[in-house]
Amino acid sequence: MRFLKPAFIGIIGLPLVLSLSACGDKNKAKNGAKSQSVHKIVKDDKFTYANYDEVQVSHLDLNLDVNFDDKVLDGTAVLTVKKLNSAADKIVLDTKDLEIMMVKVENHGEFKPVRFTLANYDEMLGSELTIPLSKNSGRISIAYKTSPKAEGLQWLDPEQTAGKKKPYLFSQAQTINARTIAPLQDTPAVRMTYSATLRVPDGLLPLMSAEQNGKDANGEYHFKMPQPIPSYLLAIAVGDIKFKAINDHIGVYAEQYILDAATKEFEETPRMEEATARLYGPYRWNRYDLIVLPPSFPFGGMENPRLSFMTPTLIAGDKSLTNVVAHELAHSWSGNLVTNANWRDAWLNEGFTSYVENRIMEELYGEKRAVMEQVLGLQGLTRDIADAARPELTHLKLPADLGHPDDAFTLVAYKKGQFFLRFLEQRYGRKKFDPFLKSYFDHFAFKSITTEDFLGYLQDNLAKENPGKVSKAEIDAWVYGPGLPDTFVPPQSDAFDKVFATYQKWDKGEIKASDIETKDWTTHEWLHFLNSMNRTYSTDKYKDLDDAFHLTGTQNAEIAFAWYMQAIKGNYAAVDTDLEDFLMSVGRGKFIYRLYGALAKNENSLKIGKKVYAKARSGYHPIAQRRIDAIFAKTEK
Ligand code: BES
Ligand code: ZN
Repeated sequence: MRFLKPAFIGIIGLPLVLSLSACGDKNKAKNGAKSQSVHKIVKDDKFTYANYDEVQVSHLDLNLDVNFDDKVLDGTAVLTVKKLNSAADKIVLDTKDLEIMMVKVENHGEFKPVRFTLANYDEMLGSELTIPLSKNSGRISIAYKTSPKAEGLQWLDPEQTAGKKKPYLFSQAQTINARTIAPLQDTPAVRMTYSATLRVPDGLLPLMSAEQNGKDANGEYHFKMPQPIPSYLLAIAVGDIKFKAINDHIGVYAEQYILDAATKEFEETPRMEEATARLYGPYRWNRYDLIVLPPSFPFGGMENPRLSFMTPTLIAGDKSLTNVVAHELAHSWSGNLVTNANWRDAWLNEGFTSYVENRIMEELYGEKRAVMEQVLGLQGLTRDIADAARPELTHLKLPADLGHPDDAFTLVAYKKGQFFLRFLEQRYGRKKFDPFLKSYFDHFAFKSITTEDFLGYLQDNLAKENPGKVSKAEIDAWVYGPGLPDTFVPPQSDAFDKVFATYQKWDKGEIKASDIETKDWTTHEWLHFLNSMNRTYSTDKYKDLDDAFHLTGTQNAEIAFAWYMQAIKGNYAAVDTDLEDFLMSVGRGKFIYRLYGALAKNENSLKIGKKVYAKARSGYHPIAQRRIDAIFAKTEK
């Protein structure tokens, strides 16, 4: 296995160390190949085995036992397929760590067993499942079982939950882990509706990214997702979960301990929904609920349709971190309604969503907060651009030889994407740009599209109607060029300029921490102050800050993270106990990948990092375990 340098560590800290040789030549997309249009399907997603240019799954029906004793999902998946090529004589599906017991194909209403082949295992892509089809083939029924080590599922023992009495299960299918949950075409290019029947132990509530249709007389739970979604939005959570409504179609699911606090923290979600619908057209998914997962959830949030999955680290008590709610809600337009057809186009999901998120924040809280969030985003983006392993990874349209789809999710997709849309907004003006985006969401609703589909639509509409405002060369520099182009206008925040001036005085020793007037500072000002510390100091200097502001042990996870990063860099050992507590209790990748990465950088702290990880590892999500294993593996060489 050949290891590559990780590309960069983005906001969600995703890029991976993975073997490129894992993907065979036959899966390599041709460089510069004309990308797939909405109408004609060309297979250009190299992260799937599926022959989705010939046959497509249009509906998935799951019937599963959720078995906490063995940590497996066990049952059947029935796939309805649609042939695009009537001569197709097989369907190829993605699976990873699935045990396939039996495959039956429907023929004139009768299901009959067929011989299937499950190919050799690939570290990244899993095993391709090939099923023969005949002229009259109907649905396909697959009896299967997941593995306890499925990367898309985390099984928690009762002790790992807040309630301590009942176990918990949650999924994370994005980017290519749906194949560890069910056999399917695991590519965002294909959309399917789904339904599910689940059996769970008494006293547990199962939820899915779907309409929750409750329990029947046999104790089975039913779910239905009538809108076509890509596989990465398939989601399940099972636990001792309670519900509290915010309004008639928005509410919060959580373990009891945090239910009231979470409902309070997220109580402005209805206003966010109204603001987004006002700008970009109606919310099209009926209910919008949020579930607060156990702290090992490796992301800030995940936009599972009708039910966003959220980290408990957002519950700061002052609504200061609710931009993540705005973000996941925004995906109901950008991402879930209009979806990137290929992970190379991830900015269509995340850049549009970051843009919409920021517009929502501006609508609710005003320009000052929205601009502060842009500046914080720019700081991270600048770091990710500087850390890029090669310049192509800073293009919005990512290169064909991307090593792993997770590598697409750096701040380039998020923030460069956001700044590109902000650039278009500034050139055309909101009066033109807002209705354009609204029409874009409507035009491509429930479709999977590429960057080129977006650019074509931009050209045919906004650009054609308003000639001379933006040139092709300017657009190309944003989309197909590296870093931030000349036309980028950096956001500027007076509030942050003041914070920075204060920081400089403290840095030079002109003032002490206790002289700083922080009464009116929000989380954002704190983050800007801490992120401005671009050098290391003597222990006294850190202690000066800590004594004045009690940063060590703060309950605000973002501030804690920013402070611990500084403390590790400056060898300020007074944080060690609280840092260990943080690493033991929080599994959010954005924080822990960079904290372990910083700890691994020098010999003293490497020891601490390894010691804490040895204790914390079993509580982390499989996705996080793989990432942090790679961080420490690098130090062994
Ligand atoms: N869809 C992403 C999370 C994701 C990306 C999961 C790639 C798996 C692979 C989600 O919408 C997201 O971007 N979450 C961010 C929050 C956001 C405010 C930047 C996160 O988790 O930090
Ligand atoms: Zn997102």
